[in-house]
Amino acid sequence: MLNFSFYNPTKIHFGEDQIHLVANEIPTDATVLVVYGGGSIKSNGVYDQVVTALTKHTWFEFSGIEPNPSYETLMKAQEIIEQKSIDYLLAVGGGSVVDGAKFIAAAALYKGEDPWDILVKQHPVKQAIPIGAVLTLPATGSESNGNSVVTRDGNKLPFASPLVRPQFAILDPKVTLSLSERQISNGVVDAFIHVIEQYLTYSVNGKVQDRFAEGLLQTLIEEGPKALHPETKADLAIRANIMWSATMALNGLIGAGVPQDWSTHMIGHELTGGFGIDHARTLSIILPAVMKVKRNEKREKLVQYAERVWQLTDDNEETKIDKAIALTEDFFQRMNVPIRLAEVEVTKDNIDGLIERLKQHGMTQLGEHSDITLEVSRKILELAL
Ligand code: NZQ
Ligand code: ZN
Repeated sequence: MLNFSFYNPTKIHFGEDQIHLVANEIPTDATVLVVYGGGSIKSNGVYDQVVTALTKHTWFEFSGIEPNPSYETLMKAQEIIEQKSIDYLLAVGGGSVVDGAKFIAAAALYKGEDPWDILVKQHPVKQAIPIGAVLTLPATGSESNGNSVVTRDGNKLPFASPLVRPQFAILDPKVTLSLSERQISNGVVDAFIHVIEQYLTYSVNGKVQDRFAEGLLQTLIEEGPKALHPETKADLAIRANIMWSATMALNGLIGAGVPQDWSTHMIGHELTGGFGIDHARTLSIILPAVMKVKRNEKREKLVQYAERVWQLTDDNEETKIDKAIALTEDFFQRMNVPIRLAEVEVTKDNIDGLIERLKQHGMTQLGEHSDITLEVSRKILELAL
């Protein structure tokens, strides 16, 4: 396996009715800004629980962070941060809210001219306001990683810094019961593909990472469809398994010491930036095509994936790979997400524009071998039609 340093200091409080623990995690002398999205936390009771937990704190609020958070919205928080001398952010919501809080936290203490440079020029974050998170949508892993994705004028760009990793995160599976079926599907599929991006590369004999990854994939395959089924969708044990899988999928553990791909994500970001397609739905379209185009480079891991995740042990290698790709597509379809561009009304005529966007964003050497050039990305998009 490759050398690595692993450090994940996010303290997790997992389980039902844990939101009150916010009170113990944020210093009582802190001035807190509670940041949230479009209001789901007001209708499902999460907001009230947070308000009760913050009784002894001085706190203010900033709302309206949209899915795929925009730079413009996030910059609006700077005024209240300055006026009220905010020194702690509490993100209450899904990945967009947590990612948004991370950018707000870094932008507030940025010394350069324009905080957009953190994303577009990858200027390193040197300071950030501390963050805590109450997660309401299991998907991104943002609650215990240092990553964030922000959009401006259709440009969806990531940045990462250990300084924006939440200090603590509350994960109550009960709060996921108010999610729409679409958001449940998106979350399961996003988490599944986070695991794949760190697993389906080439072998470095990272047995622990591989087996953790395979366990997470199997859990998501088992539990994901149950969370959509009318008879089991309210089962909190199922929700808990999905929630913990999504956190473990992108908290640094399974990616330590192994090569990583992320081409599906980078191509997917252009589909969201260009056409507003939900993040997970871009991934379910692109991943099968990546598997097909990079079949030879990923051969050893594709066979391992077929054998260990899908229990395909009887066939020859080629058939195992074919079946594993087909079963992956079948799983996505059972989760009600698209697997072809045609399903989201993106056509051959849109491919030139997507390739141009990848070029503009410097996404010209993607994948674990940096060999997914613009030409290869074109092949992937064509195969996804
Ligand atoms: O805004 P509100 O009203 O809260 O509604 C949200 C939003 O409309 C709703 N929602 C969240 N929790 C709910 C709920 N509705 C009812 N009940 C609840 N308990 O769900 C909608 C979608 O929320 P969003 O936060 O956008 O979803 P998700 O968690 O999937 O986050 C997606 C964002 O994360 C980025 C994506 O690119 C996208 O911008 N990612 C972040 C990553 C990271 N930080 O590591 C990695 C990922 O690959 C991803 O790129
Ligand atoms: Zn993702």
